[in-house]
Amino acid sequence: MKLRKMAIAMTAVMALGAIAVPAAAEEEAQVIGISMPTQSLERWNRDGSYLKEQFENAGYTVELVYSDNDSSQQVSDIQNLLADNVDILIIAAVDGEALNTAMDEAAEQEVPVIAYDRLIMNDAVSYYVSFDNYTVGQLQGEFIVEQLDLENAGDATYNMEITAGDPADNNATYFYNGAMDVLNPYIEAGTLVVVSGQTDFDTVATDQWDTQTALERAQNILGSYYADGTQLDVWLCSNDSTALGVAQGITSDYAGDNTVIITGQDGDVANLANIVDGIQTMTVYKNVSNESIVTLSLAEAMLNGDTIDESLCDTFEIDCAYDTESYETSEGNVCPSFLLVPSVITADNLDELVDTGLYEMGEDGYLTAVE
Ligand code: GAL
Repeated sequence: MKLRKMAIAMTAVMALGAIAVPAAAEEEAQVIGISMPTQSLERWNRDGSYLKEQFENAGYTVELVYSDNDSSQQVSDIQNLLADNVDILIIAAVDGEALNTAMDEAAEQEVPVIAYDRLIMNDAVSYYVSFDNYTVGQLQGEFIVEQLDLENAGDATYNMEITAGDPADNNATYFYNGAMDVLNPYIEAGTLVVVSGQTDFDTVATDQWDTQTALERAQNILGSYYADGTQLDVWLCSNDSTALGVAQGITSDYAGDNTVIITGQDGDVANLANIVDGIQTMTVYKNVSNESIVTLSLAEAMLNGDTIDESLCDTFEIDCAYDTESYETSEGNVCPSFLLVPSVITADNLDELVDTGLYEMGEDGYLTAVE
């Protein structure tokens, strides 16, 4: 409980001095402020509900807000949570560079902050919980190498295009770099050819991870570089919302009769249907229910003033690494991170999603999310 609340409680108890106060005045539930970026991208709705459920089941009061992918809205949402005297903030940033006003107020009020899934560039953040974002990209790159058997390509060449994520999202460059560090040797060797020539992050990035934006860019590329019959073999997409747009573009504007390998991330239901239908080839799955469990454990340790180190990873049955090198909230200020492990899902192992208990397989062979 923050100092201010304790002072108020002590004053109240002293004022009641004459009246017998129960041995332990009913400790009010601590309040968890949760700020999620948007409800327009499927995964954050799951994150919000899993986090709320975990903390409420553990006896906390939860205030959950969504900021409609609007960074200034998120600043005021966080300020409102602080005005409501939350005991801790858990934030998935719309833009990790744009929350300083709210973060500085949190520091002033001594409210600890967990950066959830996306790092926030402010030293008010105590810890970061996410998946290993670089590994997400590596898995996408390695999948492409394996599917095209690039190691044994000989003189064969394959044509690829790239769609990355939101430049405001710190994760996006980790996904992109993880994949490109795997694929660049094949691009430099001429085995993989990006026909549009669009390879640098800023060119291939997608504001707000928007499906329509990804669709329109894919249609532009297909119209400009593939209308002459050039074959397209693979489209690297950093997540499912952009992969959905790219797949729509290929369906509508690619004349080739080959199946284009399309990567993704998140296990969004529409993309899982595309995987069943052979339109998308893989998604990198991140069990965000597990991410909420790790976040609860960390928040409890923070609120209880426990020592926090890699031993926290032993308190739950979830593959998780304690990382004190990869992420900085400001130059040289390392943010200790708890990084969960992503996995590759294709049409061949959809049962692994059912085994999580978070998806159900219908008789039609399509997956739905368990509400
Ligand atoms: C990232 C997140 C991914 C991705 C994207 C869109 O920060 O880690 O899961 O889907 O946002 O929400």
